[in-house]
Amino acid sequence: MRKGFPKDFLWGGATAASQVEGGFDRGGKGLDTQDCRPNNAHLSRTERNLKINKQMTTEKFQKAIACRDKGDYPFRWGAEQYSHYKEDIALFAEMGMKLYRLSISWARIFPNGDEETPNEEGLQYYRDVFAECKKYGMKILVTMLHYAVPVHLVTEYGGWKNRKMIDFFCRYAETLFANFGDVVDYWLPFNEINAGKFNPYNGVALLKDQEEHYEEAIQQALHHQFIANARTVKLAHEMLPGSKVGCMIARFCHYPATCHPEDVMQQIHDEQYSNWYFTDVMVRGYYPEYMDRYFENKNIHIRMEDGDTELLKQYTVDFVSFSYYFTQVSTTDSAWEKTDGNLIVAAKNPYLQASEWGWQKDAMGLRITLNQVYDRYHIPIFIAENGLGAVDQVEEDGSIHDPYRIEYLRDHIKAMRDAVEDGVDLFGYTPWGIIDLVSCGSIEMSKRYGVIYVDCDDFGNGTFKRSKKDSFYWYQRCIRTNGEELE
Ligand code: BG6
Repeated sequence: MRKGFPKDFLWGGATAASQVEGGFDRGGKGLDTQDCRPNNAHLSRTERNLKINKQMTTEKFQKAIACRDKGDYPFRWGAEQYSHYKEDIALFAEMGMKLYRLSISWARIFPNGDEETPNEEGLQYYRDVFAECKKYGMKILVTMLHYAVPVHLVTEYGGWKNRKMIDFFCRYAETLFANFGDVVDYWLPFNEINAGKFNPYNGVALLKDQEEHYEEAIQQALHHQFIANARTVKLAHEMLPGSKVGCMIARFCHYPATCHPEDVMQQIHDEQYSNWYFTDVMVRGYYPEYMDRYFENKNIHIRMEDGDTELLKQYTVDFVSFSYYFTQVSTTDSAWEKTDGNLIVAAKNPYLQASEWGWQKDAMGLRITLNQVYDRYHIPIFIAENGLGAVDQVEEDGSIHDPYRIEYLRDHIKAMRDAVEDGVDLFGYTPWGIIDLVSCGSIEMSKRYGVIYVDCDDFGNGTFKRSKKDSFYWYQRCIRTNGEELE
């Protein structure tokens, strides 16, 4: 039996360009889909209602494109890492981080997305960021697309439902491999590829009010992402022999709400449609049989081209990764009490406590998930995101006491260790928002995940000064002892 974490376990931290970088109009960057998501910070949290923020309409989108300053678009300032990256990476190194998961902004490299040649200033920015990581001996995991698509690809081509997106993405991928292949250690073509289903604007850059058959457009767009993923794996393996490319989903672990067979069947379907479908295509290399019935019931017809099936089969991923925040239950009872989740509304589990945002905390669910994923695929697993969004209080002396965050991380790390001892091949962990950044779902700064605090409010006011929370020192000790000292 294995004991504890492997000695080369990759303890790290994760961020995404749109949520942390800011500098939306610097270095020749083009506008992207995340730069266009507004937040009215004057409203109370209840008033803001996540749904309002989540829905993008053509009107809102056009208004955002016309606005050339920061306006009320928090992703345009993020945590200003664009001008603080040296300081941030030095703090990561001080904490002992072995790996930094960050995303590259597509619109920094190709401002419109369909150019022939990349923007040199954008490439140079990431060269500098990576050099800084390497200076401290930190490994790098790059997410190539974390929701932020150049807006031109939406206005001109309609987003991922257009097959041309595959070529644009592959040109981008090839550019990244050619420029950063020698420094980047792991690649994820898509963040949470199942977002296409649970948040089509973020995931596949679709505007609902422009679609006649929304569900079909989503599935067509997802097919294009699956093909882009396979072609990216092919490119990576050809250009960078030995390179590691993974897939990533937002993992929605479901339990049957009761032992009623109807609920159990519902749980199987929920797991298939929200989780397994995506990883099955990218790990096993083909569309799973259970999706035939799903497509037929919804009158969905996916257009495929010659060679697609072979590409999917031949170019599967080297590892599987996911974000994990909460769990939910599956029920056929439509009156079952609801709660919030990661860009979704989830059915409530009476045995779990929830965060201030209604996300149900469930460390055991992580162990369950790790076992399920490993049983199914038997390839290495990486936890790309996990963490607790909470409001932090800065004390008069500048200290920030966040025992709730430490507790959440501790419980989940213990569950990971149990899973490793169950035999799961888990090789890394990057807690989300290792430094405070703008929340993706609720587009606010006050929902903080970081062990590093950033002085900035929901309006973008603040010094952007970085400071260490109690959890910083706690995670530092966790890393130093390879997950042994967690109290
Ligand atoms: C994941 C995303 O869905 O969850 C991140 O990949 C996001 O971008 C994270 O920030 C946490 O969600 P939220 O809505 O609390 O920011």
